[in-house]
Amino acid sequence: MTQKVQSTSTSRNLHAGAINSWSPTPFGLEGTTENGVFNLSVYGPKTVRVQVSRSDEFNPNPYSVVKAPVSEGFEVSDGGSFLLLQTDYINIEINKTPFAIIFKDQKGNIINQDDQAFSVSWLGTEVTNYKKLQENERFIGLGEKTGNLDRSGNAYTNWNTDYFAYGTDDDPLYMSIPFYVGIHDKGSYGIFFDNTHKTVFNFGASNNRFAYYSAEDGEMDYYFFHDAEVKGIISAYSDLTGRMQLPPKWALGYQQCRYSYYPDSEVLTLSQSFRDKKVPADVIYLDIHHMEKYKVFTFDGEKFPDPKAMIQTLKDRGFKVVVIMDPGIRTEEDYEPYVDGKEKDLFLKYPDDSIYEGQVWPGWCAFPDYTNPETRDWWAGKMKFYTEAGVDGFWTDMNEPATWGQCTPNLIDFDFEGQKVSHRKARNIYGMQMARSVKEGAEKISPDARPFVLTRAGFSGIQRYAAAWTGDNVASEDHMLAGVRLLNSMGISGIPFSGYDIGGFAGDAAPSLYARWMSIATFAPLFRAHSMINSNDAEPWAFGEEVEEISRNYIKLRYKLLPTIYSAFYSSTQTGLPLTESLAIQYSQDMNVFDSKYQDQYIFCDAFLVAPVKSTRDIAKVYLPKGDWYYFFNDQHHKGGNPVFVESPLNYLPVFVKGGSIIALQSETYHTGEDHDGVLNLHFYKGKGKSKYVHYEDDGISNGHKDGDFCKKTITLDSDSGSVTISSQEGAHPSTYNTYKLHFHGFNAKSIQIGDSESNLKKENLAFLEKLTEFDPLPEHLHPFHEVKNVFTFEIENTTDAVEIELH
Ligand code: NOJ
Repeated sequence: MTQKVQSTSTSRNLHAGAINSWSPTPFGLEGTTENGVFNLSVYGPKTVRVQVSRSDEFNPNPYSVVKAPVSEGFEVSDGGSFLLLQTDYINIEINKTPFAIIFKDQKGNIINQDDQAFSVSWLGTEVTNYKKLQENERFIGLGEKTGNLDRSGNAYTNWNTDYFAYGTDDDPLYMSIPFYVGIHDKGSYGIFFDNTHKTVFNFGASNNRFAYYSAEDGEMDYYFFHDAEVKGIISAYSDLTGRMQLPPKWALGYQQCRYSYYPDSEVLTLSQSFRDKKVPADVIYLDIHHMEKYKVFTFDGEKFPDPKAMIQTLKDRGFKVVVIMDPGIRTEEDYEPYVDGKEKDLFLKYPDDSIYEGQVWPGWCAFPDYTNPETRDWWAGKMKFYTEAGVDGFWTDMNEPATWGQCTPNLIDFDFEGQKVSHRKARNIYGMQMARSVKEGAEKISPDARPFVLTRAGFSGIQRYAAAWTGDNVASEDHMLAGVRLLNSMGISGIPFSGYDIGGFAGDAAPSLYARWMSIATFAPLFRAHSMINSNDAEPWAFGEEVEEISRNYIKLRYKLLPTIYSAFYSSTQTGLPLTESLAIQYSQDMNVFDSKYQDQYIFCDAFLVAPVKSTRDIAKVYLPKGDWYYFFNDQHHKGGNPVFVESPLNYLPVFVKGGSIIALQSETYHTGEDHDGVLNLHFYKGKGKSKYVHYEDDGISNGHKDGDFCKKTITLDSDSGSVTISSQEGAHPSTYNTYKLHFHGFNAKSIQIGDSESNLKKENLAFLEKLTEFDPLPEHLHPFHEVKNVFTFEIENTTDAVEIELH
């Protein structure tokens, strides 16, 4: 192909134009148009890539995609006025005059199509793809974006931004995930626009004709996904951009953070308070005050004279320490990381070869160029400073990168894996490459321990390296709910491990707000409280006895639920599906789920419907989609398809269990390293037809699971016949549960048959759900527990063999 760059007119739209020539390629087809070149390649039956460029070569993003195109499973043909690329799942018609694409399903339904008049166009260096709005089209996803679940009628910008105390409708925030899912009457699809420049996504804002995505520069390079279910689209996207690796189990426990806990005596007192007050917890964070003058890779000698000893005491109490790392390196002539980085030429520079300096916490700083593999290695090597002191996890903050003034000059150079590009192309990827360097550093230092990295900035693919949190939120009711939507949206966009600062980072939470936030976060993947400097104390016991009690109870519930949550994390590493699932994923064709009244609701671990509600409301209106639902705390059964009203005093967050669910609970523990009592409580909730739960265990910390050291059992429930099968164990890891206690909810039965032996269900098999949740002591009138009918329990020994159980 010899297409030349055309002279650019910035004043009018320039269409890619008519196709001049085309030919098949090993992965699809390519061709030239009047004003550009194009290439379509197949990545699987449900994933096709479209590239359009004005120069005669493509410069793809080297960071996001981990899959290669495939050379079989598709056909290419010439249909006269259009070219046809067919996979087993998608038919793609490429109109010739002008270049414009229509994606159809196997039945011929149009799933997505270019607005032919503009399709791929340029305005100066800005490149855009215009898509015709479909009938009743809704848009979800786009990662860490505020606003409504349905993004129709709005536009969003991707430009990683440090935004203290952002508003609940503000944009952009810290992270850019240019992937969304479109849902309409004829089906659903996903689009990932793999361009790291500043991008804009317009979902019918200020027009009634098209949705579009545009980048300030670079190429049109997008992946199109189609599946009958939204789940399949998310799985295809996360297959392409990579999946979360199994985190260490301790990272699923309760985490306490503050800007900042110091000196060491305060950290030790904090850890002891958790144990004395019997509030379970696993992690304590050290924010920027652990450093000398905020210089990374230092400890403040006065505040932390012996970090190793302090961390050892914390470990003895069952805590892990996570330490903050900011990219900014103070430009101080006798500070080793600065001198060394300068000597090795690893910092961001101006085009005249001088080091770029910006101001952050330590004062004037140089910034490591993490888009240079040598810099990533260098930083990774320096992390020994922390691991030798006993640090187990890393928190990469300020990695947008943040600088005071918030306007990093665009001319700064970045290596970008040798491409040598400016800040315009590299900014959005910077934070992800920092997280990558840190994750790889942790792995190099301790090859057998699973790393834990928490990041603020990121781009598509960040889930391979780190968990994410939603930055500097505010202690307000609206923020609490906005945070839920942020997590749900990140879940749609391939990032399953995410959380918000419980209680709000900026400002002071009212006691009721804190209690409610804690109860909601119990059902969030990352369970971390954090608050800023000079704010009131914000530990679970800092808001009075009632809040302490509620917080303790919910945190205990979280620890009891860990078998379910850990298994769900495992599943997510296999499927890429989120742990907090917006209702729009499973119930995408039910318009009610997009209603602003219900849009915060989500499914947790594929079993719980969580309805977040402001702490000021003691009655909540909850929408239950079609199906069977059980109020979690007393088993009251509801037929879905309608809203229900439920009391929502502070101690009872509206939570329902989906009919057909199987959930696993263990006894109370105070941290993940502590032994439970050896009983796994398996709860079966009657629904319709067949359902399954994959129960997963391993040692929770090492990579032995990759070599078969795990224990996996597939447990199926047939609600119609009242039967359960527990598969024989896969993997060589011995289960820590010697007994399975089975609880059947909503089933009527007189006897239970396990293998060949049948036993009558007697009165002692009737369960009391108090035992499940233990919310005492509470005022009597807030106590909705009662003896629950139709819950049968039965104990069996846990062996590695398969078991069949029938209710008669
Ligand atoms: C900004 C982060 O968002 C916040 O969580 C942290 O506490 C401060 N930086 C100080 O490190």
